[in-house]
Amino acid sequence: MTSSLTRPPNSQGTATVAVDVVSDVPVRLEDVVDRDALEELCQSMHRLFGISVRVYTSEGTLMASAASELEICRFVNDLPAGRLACGTTVTAAKAVDPGVEGEVTHGCFTGLTYRIVSLDYEGRRVGRIVLGPVAPAMLEEAPPSLAKTVPKLDVVQGNELLTKVPRVKSDALGRLAHHLKTSLELIIFSSHKAYVTSKLHLYSVRESYRELEEKTRRLEQALTRLKELDRLKLNFLATVSHELRTPLTSIIGYSEMLGEGIAGELNEEQAEFVKTIHGKGEQLLALIMGLLDLSKLESGTMSLRESPTQISRVLGDVVSTLAPVARKKEVDLVLDDDGVACELAADPERLRQVFVNLVDNAVKFTPKGGSVTLRARVVDGADDDEPGAALLAPVRRDVVVSVADTGIGIPPVERAKVFDAFYQVDSSSTREYGGTGLGLSIVKRIVEAHGGTVRIESNEATGAVFVVTLPSAQSRRSLPSRVPAALAPDSSKR
Ligand SMILES: Nc1ncnc2c1ncn2[C@@H]1O[C@H](COP(=O)(O)OP(=O)(O)OP(=O)(O)O)[C@@H](O)[C@H]1O
Ligand SMILES: [Mg+2]
Repeated sequence: MTSSLTRPPNSQGTATVAVDVVSDVPVRLEDVVDRDALEELCQSMHRLFGISVRVYTSEGTLMASAASELEICRFVNDLPAGRLACGTTVTAAKAVDPGVEGEVTHGCFTGLTYRIVSLDYEGRRVGRIVLGPVAPAMLEEAPPSLAKTVPKLDVVQGNELLTKVPRVKSDALGRLAHHLKTSLELIIFSSHKAYVTSKLHLYSVRESYRELEEKTRRLEQALTRLKELDRLKLNFLATVSHELRTPLTSIIGYSEMLGEGIAGELNEEQAEFVKTIHGKGEQLLALIMGLLDLSKLESGTMSLRESPTQISRVLGDVVSTLAPVARKKEVDLVLDDDGVACELAADPERLRQVFVNLVDNAVKFTPKGGSVTLRARVVDGADDDEPGAALLAPVRRDVVVSVADTGIGIPPVERAKVFDAFYQVDSSSTREYGGTGLGLSIVKRIVEAHGGTVRIESNEATGAVFVVTLPSAQSRRSLPSRVPAALAPDSSKR
């Protein structure tokens, strides 16, 4: 049988290449054929026709055998000369070359014969089938070669045993051999198909793995480059901000002095110009300070000067700082700390920065007539990270501060993004609120550096609520720190 396997279509040609890789390797009987199936086939032939069947690989290794020893063979083998001659015959039978697609008959000195059939696949020899020994239909008595080869043999008995061997006509043996060969080649075909499929699968898995490895390697390289760029960006930000601050402080100082008339009286227009220079200078300074803070927080070089801190004192300070701004905008600013007495281990100046940013936003995004409420409470919190240890763990006490306004609110889809640096919900050129989008990114980092969290909720009817949760001083001492190492408080500066 000469049949080629159908190649699976593939627009990129990968499968075709793989098939070529597989099909270019010569098929070996021992690789593709299931031995059990082969053995089963030989056994059934032997059972049906009583003829011994052996299948060899092209290298002469026995793959399957279904054979029973004939009495005549046993009789001959009992004598040393017979045994020797028998061995030589079998070896010669195995070595006979039937030619591709061919078959030959090989005679034995007993008069019996072997039929050797070539086993082929896609025009290549993959093995051979040896049928026999059988007695040809014409055999009546042992040929002279029997007595000649084994002189001590009882020829009469030999002849008697030879008559017991079933006679097989040459063409019947040929049909049998052909049938067996066809069946075997069918097995080889289906086994080879399965073999190619599995090899193909293996090949494509290997190929995908290699591609994946390559992509991972490229991603790792990109990540390293991005990290390096990020580090350079932070350095650049820190240096530029620092260098800008000094001349800017002078601009602000001199414009202030000019405004106060120290260098002579200004007319109304000059005073207006100087006021603008001063205002813009202050705005720029706030931006630069924000950038500096952010780069320090990101690079982990900002140290916290922690000390025992009362949250109500921080919030009181924030409210008195921003009360004038709120009053000017006609927004009601309310502090509700319910006499909270809970000590935090925190950097009061940084906490002040957090709540100034939040209250400043709340006032900024609340229209005239609205209100901003700062509420502080102490709650017993559970440590979500270690649910199993909740029973044994000391009770965690948290200070929860909410900054609620009745302003424009933040849509839920924007709530995670507003903590990114420079992100503003409305960044259009027609935006009516000032700012650069740095405040909340600084808030988040400072809160997390204190082991806390910040989240956004909706206010009842309209507006946003920022909820900051900070662990109490006692909780921070008894619970494992959640602060990233890079932001850990600097004990040397305490
Ligand atoms: N209370 C709030 N109500 C509605 N939107 C808010 C509120 N707080 C923040 N936002 C939205 O989140 C964005 C980011 O706030 P963030 O404080 O980081 O920046 P900013 O206030 O625009 O500028 P900056 O704080 O740097 O001066 C704001 O621009 C705004 O779109
Ligand atoms: Mg802000």
